[in-house]
Amino acid sequence: MKKKTLPIFLMLLLLLTAFTAVPYAAANNDLVITLQIDDSMMRVNGTEKEIDADLATKPTIINDRILLPVRAVVEEIGGTADWNDEQQTITLTYDQNTIRLTIAQTTAYLNDGAYTLDAAPIVLNGRTMLPIRFIAESFGFTVDWNPEQQLVTIANRPANVSNEQSDTVKTLVVYFSGTGNTKTLAETIAATAGADLYEIVPEQPYTSEDLNYHNNCRANQEMNDDDARPAITGHIDNFSEYDTILIGYPIWWGTAPRIIDTFFDTYDLSNKTIMPFCTSGGSGIETSVSHIRTICPNATVTNGLRGSASTTSASIEQWLNENNFPVQ
Ligand SMILES: Cc1cc2nc3c(=O)[nH]c(=O)nc-3n(C[C@H](O)[C@H](O)[C@H](O)COP(=O)(O)O)c2cc1C
Repeated sequence: MKKKTLPIFLMLLLLLTAFTAVPYAAANNDLVITLQIDDSMMRVNGTEKEIDADLATKPTIINDRILLPVRAVVEEIGGTADWNDEQQTITLTYDQNTIRLTIAQTTAYLNDGAYTLDAAPIVLNGRTMLPIRFIAESFGFTVDWNPEQQLVTIANRPANVSNEQSDTVKTLVVYFSGTGNTKTLAETIAATAGADLYEIVPEQPYTSEDLNYHNNCRANQEMNDDDARPAITGHIDNFSEYDTILIGYPIWWGTAPRIIDTFFDTYDLSNKTIMPFCTSGGSGIETSVSHIRTICPNATVTNGLRGSASTTSASIEQWLNENNFPVQ
């Protein structure tokens, strides 16, 4: 089997179709690369460079996918790209990480681990198109897409997130459910996100009478008392290992039940990403998201998802993508 360096620039396939801009605050970044659709120049820490001196290759959008040259990017970050013609595989290396991808296959390998890509690498006009998000994040970089400016930004991760953490990013779906709707949604979300699942179980279970909000029920009394903190049974001993917490609850009187406050009082959410989701009879999730932002000032709190027991994986994936959910 003969290995040779790719004779032409690789193209990266950005799987950012439904990905909205998440402004990236580049604290302590050594490297920020920006590429613009239909522009043959890229900017590396603000300095213009030609992407492909021979062919003037330009990032482009085909079939709602954003494509940009990979060799220039991988080399700018100090990595290498090698093509095995016989096996139709691409090997990218950076730091101590190696990524192997095969044309037309959705299985990618990061070091010894197998991962499933959203789309298989393809060859288009003699170029190999690869999924940039998987590659960049595996190598410890962030990828942002600004649809208004048609701009892709690839940057070092913030200083407090090491490459080691990004390679082993851990996600936990935590939920409380009174009557089962949020439980079902949480299970679908955990399966979709490839995350661990944990149920917040009240020390004193809620009976149907406790939830009968037409009366002066226990739930109503708690919601009328800002300081109510219903006790939780059990504890997540390895909570500090999780980077991203997806937290789900039913909406009670326009916001999250007080037991969710108990949860936030119990665990340190500093420097974590919180992704709230809910089920409700019609009310939105926004009030509860604002509340979580207030009580967890040192966490990144994304937009919330209001779903139901029948919310599909496709809608969940869209929400995850729109909120820059890390590749698992
Ligand atoms: C005490 C209580 C208050 C509620 N308040 C609201 C509300 O303000 N707005 C709303 O849309 N639904 C409200 N609901 C309905 C629940 O949010 C909805 O049925 C939810 O899907 C229940 O989720 P669960 O099965 O996981 O407990 C309330 C339900 C209860 C028990």
